[in-house]
Amino acid sequence: MSAAPIRLGVNVDHVATIRQARGTDYPDPVLAAMRAVEAGADGVTVHLREDRRHIQERDVRVLAERLQAGGQWRVPLNLEMAITDSMLALAEAVRPPRCCLVPEKREELTTEGGLDVAGQLPRVAAAVARLNAIGARTSLFIDPEPAQLAATLEAGAPAIEIHTGHYANASGAEAAALAEQIAEFARQAVAEGLEVHAGHGLHFDNVGLIAAIPEIVELNIGHFLIAQAIFDGIGPTVQAMHTAMRGARSNA
Ligand code: PXP
Repeated sequence: MSAAPIRLGVNVDHVATIRQARGTDYPDPVLAAMRAVEAGADGVTVHLREDRRHIQERDVRVLAERLQAGGQWRVPLNLEMAITDSMLALAEAVRPPRCCLVPEKREELTTEGGLDVAGQLPRVAAAVARLNAIGARTSLFIDPEPAQLAATLEAGAPAIEIHTGHYANASGAEAAALAEQIAEFARQAVAEGLEVHAGHGLHFDNVGLIAAIPEIVELNIGHFLIAQAIFDGIGPTVQAMHTAMRGARSNA
């Protein structure tokens, strides 16, 4: 069986981080997203955090306009968000084709762990129902733990994004073992009918083991791509990541 192609969702949050550091109107995450799309990005991801430390509500609205032509999405916008009433209301107004529900703590540097779906099933299920109602395909950002998979199925979400942060922080044999754990989890999720994405902490040197997992059809990558774009530009960086992902996939 040949593996499904693997998509790259480019997260442009950290373009906005640089802008917000000075309160300027540059660099523009929307412009970065458009350049990434021109270079072949399969989707654009933004995380509108509660504290608005990078992406602002206006960025989400402008991105949604710019990514559509004639009422069709040129590539999908994936809105990452915490489960709050105001975020759900924004999603209902903007109607992104993809949403990813993540946990959020104000004091964290970045999303530090997966969503505890099992521990708050009614709340997650209600959010998924609201997003299903606008036709958004919702993924739940979870750690590769069986209880979270079972809860995701109960919550009615069609997709998961596996948190690769622990894998990304490991090296050598430990990283290989965590990649195998992610692969086994992805197989179980696909067997249950879910679409499987992955992301967090991925870069050129560690993306291979994850991209090689045939059940994973999408990677969402941000921090490294924006950092590398300082040296190479966003277009060449997106193209190089695509090449790394596809190379790992075809050698799998
Ligand atoms: N996927 C999710 C759900 C995330 O929260 C993040 C970080 O915002 C990413 C992917 C991208 O992680 P990174 O910026 O480390 O590539």
